[in-house]
Amino acid sequence: DIPSLAKVYQGYFLIGAAVNPATIKSQSELIEKHFTSITAENQMKFEQLHPEEDRYTFDVADNMVAYAKGQGKQVRGHTLVWHNQTSDWIFQDKDGQEVTREVLLQRMKSHITTVMQHYKGDIYAWDVVNEAIADNGPELLRESKWLSIIGEDFIEKAFQYAHEADPGAQLFYNDYNESDPEKSQKIYTLVKRLIDNGVPIHGIGLQAHWNLYHPPLADIKQAIERYASLGLKLHITEMDVSVYSHGDKRTDVTEQSEEMKALQADRYEQFFTLFREYKDAIDSVTFWGVADDYTWLDHFPVRGRKNWPFVFDANHQPKDSFWKIVKFK
Ligand code: XIL
Repeated sequence: DIPSLAKVYQGYFLIGAAVNPATIKSQSELIEKHFTSITAENQMKFEQLHPEEDRYTFDVADNMVAYAKGQGKQVRGHTLVWHNQTSDWIFQDKDGQEVTREVLLQRMKSHITTVMQHYKGDIYAWDVVNEAIADNGPELLRESKWLSIIGEDFIEKAFQYAHEADPGAQLFYNDYNESDPEKSQKIYTLVKRLIDNGVPIHGIGLQAHWNLYHPPLADIKQAIERYASLGLKLHITEMDVSVYSHGDKRTDVTEQSEEMKALQADRYEQFFTLFREYKDAIDSVTFWGVADDYTWLDHFPVRGRKNWPFVFDANHQPKDSFWKIVKFK
């Protein structure tokens, strides 16, 4: 008998999955049985919801929310302010000239307000700002149009607008490489500053795009401790465990070897043991997909290379990784 992941983790945290209109069909059985929260993989991003200043396209995302509601699942909103998958029009006027700080703030506010009010009551947590921190170097924030046009306070403005739009929503700062000691220090610094300035922020999203070898468990633990010490909620928001290390650019691997499967199962066991240890801080653990037949990692960072990052295989059967994370009681 295959237990439900979400049921096993009742009393610990929600178990979520990123889904899209195709996987809602092709992976419906797994989604319905094992997950209590969903995130739209792409369908709530700026370019999808707001292709032109006066035009919002909510239909696809609305269907996903209706599906979640029908299934009694929660929805995480992803994402409002990001440097990727954001329509260029927002940064330019009709002549293609860069807009001023005031105009961009107004447009940002209008986007956040419209989207959050549209989904008020249906989305319990939003990734308000995604990936704003610089990966390396002395700079705290990554270069982006948001930063260069508005200035550093684009982040706190985004949270303020979001809170005004839906005071009931939990507001998250979300990022990747979140367990890297240097970057986690920067994330901590940014969020601490927001809290000290009275900015309405309720949580930190750890994307958790990890692999068989990296990051080390000790780094993840340190990052979780650091973030939890701020007294905020933590969500694991985009978890996947790639079978390739960062530098591995092979494209000729056609199946997951026994060695990869065993390593992955050990990693998953360690991760979930750690998550359970921090269950008071961690409210939800979302995978960036459902089963190995579909993952964005098949196209990233190397195009057209198969990956097997989940606890369900391509035939929707539980892998060793699955059994390792459900057998702890
Ligand atoms: C990815 C999607 O999975 C892909 O389908 C899309 O082509 C690019 O974006 N960090 C994030 C997510 O916050 O939104 C990204 O999702 C993965 C990395």
